[in-house]
Amino acid sequence: MTSPEIARILARAVSTSLGESPSKFQARLISDLERVQAIAAAPQTAGQLPPRLQTHLAALQQAMPRGEISDIIAPLISNLSWYLIYESATDWPALAGGMAAGQMIGRRGLWQSEDLLAGVMMMAPDLHYPLHQHTALELYFVLSGTVTVQHGRQAAPQRIGPGEWSITPPHQVHALQSGNQGCLIFYLWTDELTDENWWWEERYDGRWDRVCWRRQPDSSWRESHRELLTRAKADQAGDS
Ligand SMILES: [Fe+2]
Repeated sequence: MTSPEIARILARAVSTSLGESPSKFQARLISDLERVQAIAAAPQTAGQLPPRLQTHLAALQQAMPRGEISDIIAPLISNLSWYLIYESATDWPALAGGMAAGQMIGRRGLWQSEDLLAGVMMMAPDLHYPLHQHTALELYFVLSGTVTVQHGRQAAPQRIGPGEWSITPPHQVHALQSGNQGCLIFYLWTDELTDENWWWEERYDGRWDRVCWRRQPDSSWRESHRELLTRAKADQAGDS
């Protein structure tokens, strides 16, 4: 296994795009990209998205401004094995049919690796991805459209557009809301990768649950079990 050229090119582009004097999280993202071990996957069939999402993807690609990261990713988009991230979430039909990803580096990627995940995520217009948390350190870099990121139940949402980015530290609870054009995002997941992603849900009695979603072999998420959200867990999640 070697570090693929694409990862080193991306590391340089991310480093340039995030600016000088990187924070410890930025430095971690860049160094993990520089050192990732991956092998080129056998050619695979590009994943087929539902027609409505294909239309959104085409519009977002057309509207995508040029830039260092987008110029690297644009030629790869149509080769990715696209899949619906929450296809099994039948209680949330808009989310189930409105969020898709294609991995560049990862188990399902053009380059296969267990070290980190890098790829492209698409959200249909005006879609809400509820509060959730995971152990991975996450970078979102907007390629096209806009998205609002909220770090905590009481935190002020931050809207980012093409060329802008957001970093979510490990365990930090966060929610996303796509703009009226939807959004296309370059994402990077590193640090501690686990197969758990915890959603936060308010109950009828005003208390909150944490609902565990588990990553499946095809990389999509499936609901597993729930527990009460304790004050200690909320504090650990940087809730504010
Ligand atoms: Fe996340």
